[in-house]
Amino acid sequence: MLDNRSEFERVLYDGKFRILLSEEQIDARIRELGKEISRDYRTKNPIMIGVLNGGFIFMADLVRYIEIDLEVDFIKISSYGDATTTSGSVKMLKDINAEIRNRHILVVEDIVDTGLSFQFLTKKFGKFEPASLEFVSLLQKKDNARVDYHIKYLGFDIPNEYVVGYGLDHKQILRNLPSIYVMD
Ligand code: IMP
Repeated sequence: MLDNRSEFERVLYDGKFRILLSEEQIDARIRELGKEISRDYRTKNPIMIGVLNGGFIFMADLVRYIEIDLEVDFIKISSYGDATTTSGSVKMLKDINAEIRNRHILVVEDIVDTGLSFQFLTKKFGKFEPASLEFVSLLQKKDNARVDYHIKYLGFDIPNEYVVGYGLDHKQILRNLPSIYVMD
């Protein structure tokens, strides 16, 4: 029989994808991160730099749990293409517009996997001598790290498996799943 369902529907109904983090778990953790950031950055008017594309949903939810003045900007980088492992080189596809010298910068990532994007962004933003530079990441695959990095605000440590949903894609689709799934 011909299967006309979308990939989105298959994830939800076929059982080939295991749920890793539910909408409720993600929301509860982001609420906590928002509280911590509000407390730590109270008088600092930080610029939060969202990393596209994967970080767009996390960024949007996180800023709404932060109760202090802040600014936002976005950078777009790519290391995976359409594959499920990193190409090993990071390309910048869109730069930020904000002036970041002497400002408090919080980079907002969907996931830190090998750490190569983290390293690229640290070097890039570090050159402009911000007052401080810290990272927020919803997810971390610690076992896959290729470089040293430190995430100040981390959502969840996850196993070294490919995940989709809540902003994370497979071949550019499945970002709109509200929960996070492991692809078997
Ligand atoms: P890194 O440079 O290897 O740390 O990879 C960072 C980027 O790779 C993330 O911002 C994601 O866009 C992508 N990525 C890494 N792991 C996954 C995954 O499991 N699912 C979807 N995208 C991923």
